[in-house]
Amino acid sequence: MQTDNTENLMDTPTHISIIMDGNGRWAKKQGKMRLFGHNAGRESVRACTEYCAEKGVRYLSLFAFSEENWGRPVDEVAGLMDLLGRCMLEERDTLMNNNVRFQVIGDRTRLSDALRKGVEALEKETAPNTGLTLVIMLSYSGKWDILQAAQRYAADCLAAGKTLPLDETGFSTYLATAGIPDPDLLIRTSGEQRISNYMLWQCAYTEFYYTPVLWPDFRKTDLEQALLSYATRERRYGKVE
Ligand code: IPE
Ligand code: IPE
Ligand code: MG
Repeated sequence: MQTDNTENLMDTPTHISIIMDGNGRWAKKQGKMRLFGHNAGRESVRACTEYCAEKGVRYLSLFAFSEENWGRPVDEVAGLMDLLGRCMLEERDTLMNNNVRFQVIGDRTRLSDALRKGVEALEKETAPNTGLTLVIMLSYSGKWDILQAAQRYAADCLAAGKTLPLDETGFSTYLATAGIPDPDLLIRTSGEQRISNYMLWQCAYTEFYYTPVLWPDFRKTDLEQALLSYATRERRYGKVE
C-alpha cells in the first residue's frame, strides 16, 4: 500500500501548503453552480487534515480565499464566506477531538464581524491543542503580507525615533505568518502552474508540486503522491552538495 511507503519516508515535510484550486471547473463539469464545487471541496480539506494529523505533519496551510478573490461576483463571495463560517462551527468537535490547532491568516479587516468573531473563538478554543496546526489563509495575498509587514516595521521605527536594525529573520517576524516555518512543500491542484500572489516571501525555497486533479477530487492518495515526489527532491538552498 502507498501508505506504507510514506510511513517509511525519512523526510516528512514540517509544513505542507495547498493552493486549493479547481472548484469552479469541477462544478461546471457537472452542470452545477460554482458554489457546489466550493462546498464539495470541504471533503478534501477534511481528508488532508486527517492525513496530516495522522502522519505528524506540524503545519497544514490552505489557501482558501485571496485578496483578489474579493473581486468575484458578490453571490460567490457571500456563499464562500457563509461556507467558511458554517465549516468552523461544524468542524469544531473534530478539530478538538484530533488535537488540531486552528488558525486564520489574512486581512481580517475585510471579514464580517460575525465571521471574525467565529474565527477568534475557534482559534482561542483550539489554542491549547498540540497536534497539527491547520492554517486557513483567508483574505490573504503575498504582496499584502509583505506590505503590512513593511508598514508595521516603519511604525516601530517611528515609535523608536530611529531606523531599527532589520535582517531576514527580523523581517519574518512582521509577516502575518510569523512563528510558522516556511512551507517545505506547496501543492497546487487543477493543473495551474502559478503562485497567484500566495506566500511570496515564504516560498523562497519551497518545493512545488502540481497536479491536474481538481480540488474537490483531491484525496489522501493524491497527497501521498505529492509526498512521494517531495521525498525524491534534493533541496540545495543555493549551495553545492
Ligand atoms: C478555488 O477554486 C477556490 C477559490 C479560489 C476560492 P476556484 O473557484 O478558483 O475554481 P476554478 O479555478 O474557477 O475552477
Ligand atoms: C488562487 O486561485 C486562490 C485560491 C485558491 C484561494 P485563483 O483561482 O483565485 O487563482 P487564478 O486567478 O487562477 O490565478
Ligand atoms: Mg481558480
